[in-house]
Amino acid sequence: MFFNLSSHSWPQKRIWTIGMSQCNLGEPWRVQMNADVKNAAEVHPGLKVILKDAQNDNLRQRAHIEEFVRAGVDAILVSPKEAAPLTGPVRDAYKKGIPVIVIDRRVLGEDYTCFIGADNKKIGRAAGKWIAEKTGGKGNVVELKGLMTSTPGQDRHSGFREGIANTNIAVIFEADMKWLEPNARKEMESALSRFDKIDVVYAHNDPGAHGAYLAAKAAGREARILFVGIDALPHEGQMYVKQGILGASFEYPTGGKHAVEIALDILNGKKVAKEITLPSRVFTKENIDKGGEVLNE
Ligand code: FRU
Repeated sequence: MFFNLSSHSWPQKRIWTIGMSQCNLGEPWRVQMNADVKNAAEVHPGLKVILKDAQNDNLRQRAHIEEFVRAGVDAILVSPKEAAPLTGPVRDAYKKGIPVIVIDRRVLGEDYTCFIGADNKKIGRAAGKWIAEKTGGKGNVVELKGLMTSTPGQDRHSGFREGIANTNIAVIFEADMKWLEPNARKEMESALSRFDKIDVVYAHNDPGAHGAYLAAKAAGREARILFVGIDALPHEGQMYVKQGILGASFEYPTGGKHAVEIALDILNGKKVAKEITLPSRVFTKENIDKGGEVLNE
């Protein structure tokens, strides 16, 4: 019997290609998400991840999804800049049978495979309650909002308003700083020039809280204001809490590791939940050395 070794087809391990579109890499939290994706993917030799940065441009991010579809990737991960502009391309990819995992910021409707993120409404509510407790339920608050066309901004806002309902806390100034520290600093300068009494800044992310702090410090008013932010990266929000810059930072896990694991489950034929809600913790100077405290309600 003749056996031709060279033409024999050995069982091959399948190589999966996953395309990931990150809405921007200008903030430490997103750099961390990409690092979490890379680290999770590295332990699977059969997995290739293509990372793309949309540089905060919806059109560019839409094009990423379309390119991934044309290239025939096995799955798509996307952390959208804004809900509405990304909904169409995500729907088209999903309808073509490509698994699409949406991370952190949502798209509109249900046409995606899985959403992974923490509960922003719950985080906003917890921030409101924490501030109410800290201030004895009264005082003047500046709210520096994340991009209000993105779902975390909307939920961190509405959750917060629920958290301070039935208190004497007044939101005297609110502005959309679009998640960006320099914008937050500018908005806080306006708030400081208009209001003599500001007791608390609630910013939808830690860069925003830090920008506000810098504005208050430049005006010599930082010691009289309590600053609260969201994200709690070890080298950002948690560090600010340790330094006494922030009174509290609420953790917003990136979901990068989970997204890779869920993608692999899908590719290996497992059924996954449509919605995966990640837990969050609050860090304050009292609990930071113990690793924060889990939010539960
Ligand atoms: C980074 C970021 C985070 C925030 C998240 C919300 O771009 O602004 O600071 O928690 O996006 O989507």
